[in-house]
Amino acid sequence: MIETKTLGRDYIRGERALTVLDDVSFIVQSGEFVSITGPSGSGKSTLLGLLAGLDRPTRGSVWLEGQNLNDLDETSLSRFRGSRIGFVFQNFQLVPTLTALENVSLPLRLQDAVGADEKARQMLNRVGLADRLNHYPTQLSGGEMQRVAIARASVIAPSILFADEPTGNLDSGSGDRVIDLLMESRKHCTLVLVTHNPELASLADREIRLRDGKVEQIVTHRKASRTGAKKKVAATASPRAKSKPAPKKGNATRSSTRKAATGKGGGQRPARSGKKKAAK
Ligand SMILES: Nc1ncnc2c1ncn2[C@@H]1O[C@H](COP(=O)(O)OP(=O)(O)OP(=O)(O)O)[C@@H](O)[C@H]1O
Ligand SMILES: [Mg+2]
Repeated sequence: MIETKTLGRDYIRGERALTVLDDVSFIVQSGEFVSITGPSGSGKSTLLGLLAGLDRPTRGSVWLEGQNLNDLDETSLSRFRGSRIGFVFQNFQLVPTLTALENVSLPLRLQDAVGADEKARQMLNRVGLADRLNHYPTQLSGGEMQRVAIARASVIAPSILFADEPTGNLDSGSGDRVIDLLMESRKHCTLVLVTHNPELASLADREIRLRDGKVEQIVTHRKASRTGAKKKVAATASPRAKSKPAPKKGNATRSSTRKAATGKGGGQRPARSGKKKAAK
């Protein structure tokens, strides 16, 4: 279960505090699929980062499975995230210097899990990338990178999966495939998904609509269940895909999430040619 209590987040700009989230309170039940929607700048990514413990609130609290994240220090929070939380970024956030297989096995390696490579291989097989194990991110298409990102988020069998506009930059075919994978994942976990796509948002049990950093409305689409009917959604219906494909630079949530999801701060991209590792 996820619970937020009067959650707020300010950013300091010059001498002024800018409130981007305020008084956000809701509960997401275990196994529920909730979408978060709202205009650009309404605070969706900020909220997702706070829910996943990638960013700290200015006010209020986030409780995940009975644990108040405010009570965890960075080490405990990182351990908590590493074992229970999967996060799929709109812009993939794969480690450029690692192959697909290494990217997916990384969260397991950080936990010293046994059989990390084999589990990662199986997960990549499930997302249809068995023949891309040794490709670097630069050698993958956008849809393939996003599938690697989903595999990486899912490989730890998280109890909660967060996804921030996972189809935002994909064509409709790749987007539909990503949606299929997320709908499959939701059978095993709580899914919280940010999207600009109204059709995708309406697949959720409930939709939390944000406006100007506040919850404007919570819409129930169907009774919470893990077996809701699935329908195909054209990813390109997303207004964001058309109007705002590039990520914002300098967003603290995004930079902190890269670190959190990968355990690394990034690195130099290998050249497309020449650095590819030998096939395992
Ligand atoms: N690190 C930061 N420093 C200052 N302001 C920030 C920072 N990160 C986000 N903001 C501001 O907070 C507001 C909400 O940003 P957020 O990224 O959460 O919006 P969003 O709803 O996800 O928008 P989009 O749909 O465009 O992704 C924006 O006005 C943004 O400029
Ligand atoms: Mg966003």
